[in-house]
Amino acid sequence: MAIQTIPTQPFAGQRPGTSGLRKKVTAFTQSHYLENFVQTLLDVLNASGPDGQALTGQTLVLGGDGRFYNRTAVQTILKLAAANGVARVLLGRGGILSTPAVSAVIRRRQAFGGIVLSASHNPGGPDGDFGIKYNAGNGGPANEALTEAVYARTQVLRELRISDVPDVDIDRLGLQQIEQMQVDVIDPVADYAAVMRVLFDFDLLRTMFKRGFRVRVDAMNAVGGPYARAILEGELGAPAGTVVNAEPLEDFGGLHPDPNPVNAEDLIAHMQRPDAPDFGAAMDGDADRNMVVGRNFVVTPSDSLALMTAHARLIPGYKDGLLGVARSMPTSAAVDRVAKVMGLPCFETPTGWKFFGNLLDAGRVSLCGEESYGTGSSHVREKDGLWAILFWLSLQGATGRSVESLVREHWRIYGRNYYTRHDYEGIAVDVAQALMQDLRAALPALPGRQFGTRRLVLADDFAYTDPVDGSVSGQQGIRLIFDDGARVIFRLSGTGTEGATLRLYLERYEADSAKQDQPVQPALAELAAVAEQVAGISGRTGMAGPTVAT
Ligand code: G1P
Ligand code: ZN
Repeated sequence: MAIQTIPTQPFAGQRPGTSGLRKKVTAFTQSHYLENFVQTLLDVLNASGPDGQALTGQTLVLGGDGRFYNRTAVQTILKLAAANGVARVLLGRGGILSTPAVSAVIRRRQAFGGIVLSASHNPGGPDGDFGIKYNAGNGGPANEALTEAVYARTQVLRELRISDVPDVDIDRLGLQQIEQMQVDVIDPVADYAAVMRVLFDFDLLRTMFKRGFRVRVDAMNAVGGPYARAILEGELGAPAGTVVNAEPLEDFGGLHPDPNPVNAEDLIAHMQRPDAPDFGAAMDGDADRNMVVGRNFVVTPSDSLALMTAHARLIPGYKDGLLGVARSMPTSAAVDRVAKVMGLPCFETPTGWKFFGNLLDAGRVSLCGEESYGTGSSHVREKDGLWAILFWLSLQGATGRSVESLVREHWRIYGRNYYTRHDYEGIAVDVAQALMQDLRAALPALPGRQFGTRRLVLADDFAYTDPVDGSVSGQQGIRLIFDDGARVIFRLSGTGTEGATLRLYLERYEADSAKQDQPVQPALAELAAVAEQVAGISGRTGMAGPTVAT
């Protein structure tokens, strides 16, 4: 058994996107594809870590969402890590760790960083997607400087250093050895559960279940299952069967583990039945996203963030109040209204959880959220699906009110931000890029123009200056903002693996409580028409409408 030096050739296109490197499984299974990327990452981390410190002699956390190729990738990464100076790897048993759990383990164990194997909500299985993402010592996604350094090096890499030891037993808890490196196989749930126990009043939640409060959590055959089961059914006494689709499967059992009302239709159907549970929720592939559903009532993620902000003091972990809040630019401004009333700083960042990291680390914000079913807090540096579920359970326990009544009361107090996202999937890349380019070119002529009852007051391509480190991120989405606060936003997805996806975000504010009960799509139809008029989406794409509207 020895460390081998093996020649290799660079692969084009190993540039991490919104959330790590995501490609088809068939790309990852090419000889040396994964090896090259991991070798590069280890080289970059060894050259100098985020704080100038190198990885050599340090601890890495490793785990994934259990999708196809997860177990194989774990063995490869262990052999590379052992050959590149890593002293210890904390590996989730079976190669399993949810994204928020990786973050929690990095932070609690003060690891150097961690590797997450996931393509989040993208489909799994041999024909599906795989992904790999690096999280730094704060537990959060690597910054762009690091991912760009990794990408640059993938283009010149010539050598792999890898051990030729046999595979380790990743299903056996405890210590094993590869070369000089220790592999510590850990319980994937324990560290995460310890964090939840501190934030939430578990006795209150136990009492709710004892009194017969009924919950349905759909883990969509993805990695959230073991976590939800251990905490809800194991620790809090929810009846067996509260968590459904709870076994992580390599192809997610054919489900699309991207929790929205379209993909989680089975949950929505259950929540509409006469015998519906009191509360429903779903998580995505790596359990960092959440969808919250009441009886016959779906909560939009933007509203969820606003309500969490308004009621945070009811939760033990936030009883002293929040430092501030942040939302991604396309997320609705519902939370801004709450922050204003509460006198809280409120930040608007580009899409992607990594932009929240500095604000959280600097103690500027406590809660963050995105319209894409992501909510989280300073307890880790990732969005966190089960945390959001426990938060909403706690809100219902503390107030004795249903999801619907909490949201409706919120709208009465703060007004309602009607909100939708239209996805145009599978567009040819050149068509999508031309659409964005032409839009960008048209921006200067738009302000002042009248669209029906609205006047356009701002048209720009969102640029963000990080208030902590001063770094600037440009071209983060085209915004059209109107005199009544309505917004139309265009951006291209950075997480897809096939063609391009155009995301169109529409939002308008309704203060009048008599007008807060309209169906969402008709309520935003005028703005959809404006988007069509300005961007010519259907003509350019040949699509009559979006593939998904949530
Ligand atoms: C999508 C979401 C974004 C989220 C990211 C990772 O990215 O829109 O909010 O942070 O997935 O979960 P996009 O495909 O839009 O680049
Ligand atoms: Zn995810």
